[in-house]
Amino acid sequence: MALTWDTTLVMGIPEIDAQHQRLFERLDALLQAIRRGSSRDEVGRTLAFLCDYVKTHFAAEEELMRESSYPGYAEHKAQHEGFTRDLAVLEEDHLRNGPSPGLILRVNSRVTVWLRDHIYRVDRQLAEHLRARQR
Ligand SMILES: [Fe+2]
Repeated sequence: MALTWDTTLVMGIPEIDAQHQRLFERLDALLQAIRRGSSRDEVGRTLAFLCDYVKTHFAAEEELMRESSYPGYAEHKAQHEGFTRDLAVLEEDHLRNGPSPGLILRVNSRVTVWLRDHIYRVDRQLAEHLRARQR
């Protein structure tokens, strides 16, 4: 089963929507690499590729929040920081144990579920704020 971004996650802010799609593509690439039984190096690369894009994306969102004087900035940024720490734990887990079925479970429970929930609830509020300012 491929993991895809879908239209329930559309925020109506093209820059953010495009980045969310890229995030899901990289997350899917990671899950596929583990499922295919790719080497530890290969899975490590797809995991690093995902973490790298998460940083870029969070920085872009946080910049939009600052530029638009978003009142929920601190709380939203704290969520990003918590997730970034979880990803670091996952990377350590992979360094120690390598790719495993358990890693798929952990990626799904900590990354996939978090991302969908964060986009659906937290990013949506930011998008509403940005759209209201555009009007
Ligand atoms: Fe966010």
